[in-house]
Amino acid sequence: MKDASPQTVYLSDYTPFGWQVQDVHLTFRLAPEATRVLARIHFVPNPDAPKQEFFLHGEDLTLIHAAIDGQTVSPVQSAEGLTCAVPDGPFLWECEVEIAPAKNTALEGLYMSNGMYCTQCEAEGFRKITFYPDRPDVMSVFTVRIEGDEPVKLSNGNPGKTGEGFAEWHDPWPKPAYLFALVAGDLVNHPDRFTTMNGRDVELNIWVRPGDEGKCAFGMEALKKSMKWDEDVYGREYDLDIFNIVAVDDFNMGAMENKGLNVFNSSCVLASPETSTDANFERIEAIIAHEYFHNWTGNRITCRDWFQLCLKEGLTVFRDAQFTADMRSAPVKRIEDAQMMRGRQFPEDQGPLAHPVRPESFQEINNFYTATVYEKGAEVIGMLKRLVGDEDYAKALDLYFDRHDGDAATIEDWLKVFEDATGRDLSQFKRWYSQAGTPRVTVTEDWSEGTYTLTFRQVTPPTPGQPDKAPQVIPMAVGLLNPNGDEVQPTTLLEITEAEQSFTFDGLSARPVPSLLRDFSAPVVMEREVSREERAFLLAHDTDPFNRWDASQMLGVECLIAMITEGATPDTAWLDGLERVLRDDSLDPAFRALMMGTPSQAELARVLHERGHTPDPDAIWNAAETLAQFRAERWADLLPRLAAEAAVDAPYSPDAEQVGKRALGAGVLALQTRLDGGKAAQAQFDSADNMTLQLTALGSLVRAGRDAEALAAFEEQWKDDRLVMDKWFGLQIGAAAPDVAVERAQALTQHPAFDWKNPNRFRAVLGGLAAHHAAFHRADGASYALLADWLIRLDDLNPQTTARMAAVFQTWTRYDEDRRALMRAALERIAAKLNLSRDTGEMVTRMLA
Ligand code: PHE
Ligand code: ZN
Repeated sequence: MKDASPQTVYLSDYTPFGWQVQDVHLTFRLAPEATRVLARIHFVPNPDAPKQEFFLHGEDLTLIHAAIDGQTVSPVQSAEGLTCAVPDGPFLWECEVEIAPAKNTALEGLYMSNGMYCTQCEAEGFRKITFYPDRPDVMSVFTVRIEGDEPVKLSNGNPGKTGEGFAEWHDPWPKPAYLFALVAGDLVNHPDRFTTMNGRDVELNIWVRPGDEGKCAFGMEALKKSMKWDEDVYGREYDLDIFNIVAVDDFNMGAMENKGLNVFNSSCVLASPETSTDANFERIEAIIAHEYFHNWTGNRITCRDWFQLCLKEGLTVFRDAQFTADMRSAPVKRIEDAQMMRGRQFPEDQGPLAHPVRPESFQEINNFYTATVYEKGAEVIGMLKRLVGDEDYAKALDLYFDRHDGDAATIEDWLKVFEDATGRDLSQFKRWYSQAGTPRVTVTEDWSEGTYTLTFRQVTPPTPGQPDKAPQVIPMAVGLLNPNGDEVQPTTLLEITEAEQSFTFDGLSARPVPSLLRDFSAPVVMEREVSREERAFLLAHDTDPFNRWDASQMLGVECLIAMITEGATPDTAWLDGLERVLRDDSLDPAFRALMMGTPSQAELARVLHERGHTPDPDAIWNAAETLAQFRAERWADLLPRLAAEAAVDAPYSPDAEQVGKRALGAGVLALQTRLDGGKAAQAQFDSADNMTLQLTALGSLVRAGRDAEALAAFEEQWKDDRLVMDKWFGLQIGAAAPDVAVERAQALTQHPAFDWKNPNRFRAVLGGLAAHHAAFHRADGASYALLADWLIRLDDLNPQTTARMAAVFQTWTRYDEDRRALMRAALERIAAKLNLSRDTGEMVTRMLA
């Protein structure tokens, strides 16, 4: 019988493993249906651990033979692993198992993708390869021998002997099993070299399927830039003779930082101007950097247990954000990060799936690779850096690498390093790791005789399991402007620590206008009654790019909410102020492109809910459409001028300057299409020589309902390119009118190229539908039902991707009674599925709680 109540794991239950692993020797005899894995492992009793039964994790393994010190043993097996009587002292464990990579559809452990063997072991996939203490605090040196006919056979570390039908690898750096990787297949490489700061020569390769060689150059440049940057900024040098990246088509996530052998979802590494958009290029650069940076923050220093996931992920996201800011534009990156927090993390923090940056319990760790752990985890580090300053941050990081190199560490270790390096007490700051929820900050002002006082109040709403919250440390970056627009107080950091706290500024000649939460200095919601005039003033004068952008966004939110709730007409003062910014050609086109954007419909729904309204997706859609049409007409003169500025004469390059121009051009084209019915878009589609322009044009044509020919032409052109076809599938749903999107999605699931077992393709169609706010929330519930059908189907094959996608229902309690009932029914239908996976089961249970 299936266990009805899956086990919950608690942070407070941590106990070290009873043995240390001295070394691991693995031999793989590859065969799609029957791969043999032989393991020879030296175990030594761990003096720091309590006495315990010898238990090794193992799932879906057929045990062929096991021996201890050469004597055959008969372990007791369960669905989770095995136990066995073992000697008191050190011993040699030898074990042979059989696995079937070709049957592994979960894409966890050893599996096959297009005839190629590959592995994914984070978080708990190694236990599907052999019996092992599959926990990150057990670290060991691995030697691997791969036997098979595949021309290329890769594993972690440095290459050893190779010969007819075999290849050996040795990784000298002790690592947890989740960083193990093996790849074998018919692959070709894009080679390069890098010389490290100490003059060590490193071989670099990007491995791809034959035919994709031409899409590796950009990723390789990104890798070399990342290696150099980590040396320059963090003093971190690469530590093996070789660094391999492999592109695989079937992958649940973006990429994986396996030691010396990063495995990438092909969508996150393959790039060419003809097939990839500017956004793809930027994302690839950031993910290559992210995985590379893990070599120090994640691999050399890893996590003691999975509750500490943010130790590596928050820090590595923070590092890749610094890298992108340095490579491209810092203000643009900051604005994009704020959009990400508001668009993805705030909804999580404000709904049934809310959890602390360091969770305290879980059933399935795969469900905690979230925006909270990653992005809020990075924001927490950003706050720490603001509080201690750049110099002390650098000191603390040096100490972290010195003190913990080779360790499986905790958040306590991390914070202690900052306390020791700076003398600061971080006990209150630590609440950022333990309290879930988005703090709300209200502000009141007082002005008398040259003294200006700001009073802040902070409240963090209750979240599941956490009814009461204590005040957190909020670094509030503030500037003050004179009524004439001059800055009288440059950015200063106020440290809010109390539930209510005041700060005064003296010697001012006039009552200033405050610019608060500059640079998005903390992941909080500001609740402040600000007049439109004051926001318009900040839009015109703020020196802080984030706040200038935010002033316009907030005016946009107010405008749309007034349109939705009061039937108001668009706010022309805002649009005129914005127009002045858009006309200012001293401003970076990328920044102006962001300024041109309006808050997403999902974001509007979130804010409406935050303010006590029930969001009506149809009304939100209509208001957004009305506003867009209004802007197009009002800016009819401005658009050609911006289009001219956005034009790029030089050959395509994904550099920040060109990308910014094309982003501005995309904003212009969207409005232009409302005036010319798609003429400009058709012209751009016909003449485009790169995917960014081609896809932008196609999106506009779909929105204009002039898409039949263009979609067919695009399909004909790109039918053999999987990654481009993902875009084709996604776009015609994402850009469709809300009343037809679900039928389109339904029809596309019948398309011969809809390979639903491929996560990228599944996400393009079903994720595309879920991301279309008005279409997903169509009043008849058709989208909810379609998604539930497909999630139920996918769960048997791929629990991890199913569970992640199920999270799109997390906002269900915000909506009206009818939609709530329909979403609840969809969730209950998923919950009732026979043999529902632990992954999906945990997610729907939390959402229904
Ligand atoms: N550790 C990976 C990263 O952030 C993400 C990942 C998690 C990939 C689990 C696969 C499986 O870089
Ligand atoms: Zn990561």
